[in-house]
Amino acid sequence: MFITLEGGEGAGKSTQIARLAAFLRGLDLDVLETREPGGAPGAEAIRALLVSGDTGRWTPMTEALLHSAARADHLARSVRPALAEGKWVVCDRFTDSTLAYQGYGHGLGVERINALNELVTEGLRPDLTLILDLPVEAGLRRAGTRPGAEDRYERMGRDFHERLREGFLAIARAEPNRCAVIDAAADVETVAGAIARAVNERLIAGKT
Ligand code: TMP
Repeated sequence: MFITLEGGEGAGKSTQIARLAAFLRGLDLDVLETREPGGAPGAEAIRALLVSGDTGRWTPMTEALLHSAARADHLARSVRPALAEGKWVVCDRFTDSTLAYQGYGHGLGVERINALNELVTEGLRPDLTLILDLPVEAGLRRAGTRPGAEDRYERMGRDFHERLREGFLAIARAEPNRCAVIDAAADVETVAGAIARAVNERLIAGKT
C-alpha cells in the first residue's frame, strides 16, 4: 500500500507521519517512511535547491520540473523497490503537492501539472491520501516557530498559501475515493486518531 500525507505549511505532517508509521508497525506491517522532495540521495540534493534561498529563485515551471526530477529519482530508488518488496510506503507529500503548490499556488494550472505528474509517475497513484487541512494563518504561525532554514515556501505571500489550500480541497473533492480530509487544527492525539481511523476504514478493515 502507498499512503501519502498532504497539506499546507505547519499542518503537522512530520509529527503525524511518524505516528502513522508507528501505528502500522504496531500491526506488524513492514513500513518505509519517506518524504518529498527527497527520500533518496539524489532527490535530497535536489531538495536543497528548492527549500531555501530567495522565494523568486526559480520560475514556476523550473520549480515544477525540479520537484518532478526529485520525484523521478525517489520513485526509482526508494518507493518502487519498497512496494515491490511488499512494504507499506508512507510518504510526506507527493504529486498533489505539485498540483497544489505549482499548479494552484503558482498558477501553472491543473492540466499541465496533471500531465507532468502522469509522465513522472507512469500512473502510480497513492492508495490513500490524507489531506491535513488547516486555516492558512494558523499553519503559518505554527511553521514560523520551527527552527531551520527550510523556509522558502513559508516566505511566499499569504495569497499563495490561500490558493494552495483551496487547491488541496479541490483535489479532495475531485477524488473522494482516494483522498480523506483531516482537520489538522485539532490536537496531535485527535489528528493521529482521525488518521488511524481513515487508514483502518479505507485500507485495512475487511481486506485482511
Ligand atoms: P516540507 O516542508 O513539507 O518538507 O516540503 C518542502 C516544501 O516543498 C514545502 O513547502 C512544499 C514544497 N513542495 C512543492 O512546492 N511542490 C512539490 O511537489 C512538493 C513535493 C513540495
